[in-house]
Amino acid sequence: MLSFLLLCQWAAIVASQIISPSVQHAKRAILPVGWSRARRYSSDAIIPLRFGLSQPNTDMRTLELLLHGVSHPDSPAYGQHWTPARVARHFAPTDESIGVVTAWLSQSGIRSNRLHMSKSKGWVAVNATVSETEVLLSTEYHVFVHSESGKEHIACDQYYLPAHVAPHIQIVTPSVDFNVVLSKRHNGNSFSTEVSLGQPRAGTVFPQFTDAIDTLVPGTEHCDKQITPGCLRALYNFHYSPISGEKNSFGVVEYTPQAYVPSDLDKFATNFSAFSGPSLVGSRPSLSSIAGGVVQTASRSFDFNGESNLDLEYAMNLVSANQPVTLYQVGDLQMGASFNNLLDALDGSFCSFEGGDDQENDGIYPDPLPGGYQGQDCGSVKPANVISTSYGYNEADLSPAYTVRQCAEYAKLGLMGVTVLYSSGDNGAAGNGGLCLNPDGSQTSGGRIFNPSFPSTCPFVTSVGATQINPGATVADPESACQQVISSGGGFSNYFAIPDYQKGAVGEYLTAHSPPYSNTTYNSTGTSRAYPDLSANGANYVTAVNGGFFLVYGTSASAPVVGAMLTMINDARLAMGKRPVGFINPTIYSPAFRGAFNDITTGTNPGCGTKGFSTAPGFDPVTGLGTPQFDKLLFLWSLLP
Ligand SMILES: *[C@@H]1O[C@H](CO)[C@@H](O)[C@H](O)[C@H]1NC(C)=O
Ligand SMILES: *[C@@H]1O[C@H](CO)[C@@H](O)[C@H](O)[C@H]1NC(C)=O
Ligand SMILES: *[C@@H]1O[C@H](CO)[C@@H](O)[C@H](O)[C@H]1NC(C)=O
Ligand SMILES: *[C@@H]1O[C@H](CO)[C@@H](O)[C@H](O)[C@H]1NC(C)=O
Repeated sequence: MLSFLLLCQWAAIVASQIISPSVQHAKRAILPVGWSRARRYSSDAIIPLRFGLSQPNTDMRTLELLLHGVSHPDSPAYGQHWTPARVARHFAPTDESIGVVTAWLSQSGIRSNRLHMSKSKGWVAVNATVSETEVLLSTEYHVFVHSESGKEHIACDQYYLPAHVAPHIQIVTPSVDFNVVLSKRHNGNSFSTEVSLGQPRAGTVFPQFTDAIDTLVPGTEHCDKQITPGCLRALYNFHYSPISGEKNSFGVVEYTPQAYVPSDLDKFATNFSAFSGPSLVGSRPSLSSIAGGVVQTASRSFDFNGESNLDLEYAMNLVSANQPVTLYQVGDLQMGASFNNLLDALDGSFCSFEGGDDQENDGIYPDPLPGGYQGQDCGSVKPANVISTSYGYNEADLSPAYTVRQCAEYAKLGLMGVTVLYSSGDNGAAGNGGLCLNPDGSQTSGGRIFNPSFPSTCPFVTSVGATQINPGATVADPESACQQVISSGGGFSNYFAIPDYQKGAVGEYLTAHSPPYSNTTYNSTGTSRAYPDLSANGANYVTAVNGGFFLVYGTSASAPVVGAMLTMINDARLAMGKRPVGFINPTIYSPAFRGAFNDITTGTNPGCGTKGFSTAPGFDPVTGLGTPQFDKLLFLWSLLP
């Protein structure tokens, strides 16, 4: 609960300056596909209103400088990561923000004994009637109905705050945002997806691969047809036996109902042995259940098991049985979950329970649905040194305020020394599901405007694109951008400004290889964040799924492979008494490290009726800096403090 002492103090100070003009705080550009306005929401209904308070020091520029301090190889404080307590202190909302917001509510007739404050002091919550809320925010709430599911949603089109209050509030929920809970929802016997997620694809190049592959090709002679752990080791000079064991950590994130199949891990381990250490047969990831996460066994198919099996089979093999892998399984079977639910568990200072995650975007726990998870995971999980996620949204699925708040959280993990990897998407310049933007901001398959992927566009994550071995080529030949079955997600953000670390690299690309599209097709200003940052093979992965071997494609494969390499570099650094690599972007874009990547110069990332962006010497928004040369990176990172 709020400290009443504090409240009274601030109420007294602020009371005299309460009259100030209203300013628009948020406005939705467009109604999402499938939704239509049904009616005004009844004035006496109760709205669980939540105010996300502004966090000091979280403007993008300040975060970038803080992160630069511990992550840039030239910084004297390189590797001197912050403790979670220091992070919590540094970003806690100020007493002034709490005071101004509660005083404003009190002046508006909402007494402080109705308010509830989250533990982190990040959120103020109140159950308010619709009429109270409409006066407070100078808006109208409507009920919207989804044409297919019949589901109803409460939202306003825009809202206003008094000018003196607006700087103290980052986000109000429910307001303009629509439901984009990340995971699939359980509907009777089948799962339906609320939003289309980036997931790996089953091979369609050779239709017979809908059946199991009959013959695994041994060795590394035919890596253009089948990628195996041995192919990846040969491609990236990735031969390393870890020695740090439990001191080191590697986390792979999966969202329920996506689930790995134990017998498939064993099948994979039987046919592909790790580079070193004991057999992986019988070995399992260590389960870290978040927001009721379960490895469900009720539904089995490529759609339910492909992602988890792919990620874990390769992650576990590439780091060997001597390096434990943690599975962050997020969300229960009923509610599902979003990235914010994971972040709640990893960082108690972000945790927005008791005042709530964003109701419209995140799974809300305890889950009131039958069988739902009754717990609340808040700072309950120590983040692994490297965390790899192969899911993503389209930036346009989410409001700028929501993405900015989440992006700041990735910066905090970076300050703590955590490497956060996201796959860049499988639809090239288009978004998930091949959707592209229209001039009015809506997303359709016929859209012509490139549709960037989030969180990849957040400058504080490391985004991983996909490459391929060209047909007929070997592991010794240069790879191309992946253009089999999938194309590597990449492009320019519409929300986030370009961070310093990539200004040189992106500037060179835009000058020397200016894309043949106008500013109506993509954000061509040169002032926006470009992604991905680097890439790794994403084609023809031999993957055990439900008793057979399939070829799987996607940046989904690339992210855990890069994660495995960074985990082994952390192993070496820990053994030397050093800190993990943490946020890697300022390092990998630095001149010394540029030479440790295989530059990818062939291929494009088609999407939105175009051939997409072209690869080019140096950085490109298709494959980033290129693919890692593990041996060189290991050497360079062992020289850093
Ligand atoms: C709002 O009402 C719900 C249901 O009665 C209750 O569980 C919740 O604690 C209330 N929230 C606040 C902030 O009072
Ligand atoms: C996998 O290994 C087993 C045992 O060595 C072998 O019998 C089987 O043929 C292999 N599978 C394939 C598809 O090559
Ligand atoms: C392009 O990106 C910049 C930097 O994030 C942003 O300020 C600008 O609004 C973007 N332009 C468009 C058209 O999205
Ligand atoms: C796009 O470029 C045209 C011509 O240079 C310019 O007039 C217009 O303002 C630009 N639009 C955006 C959204 O940047």
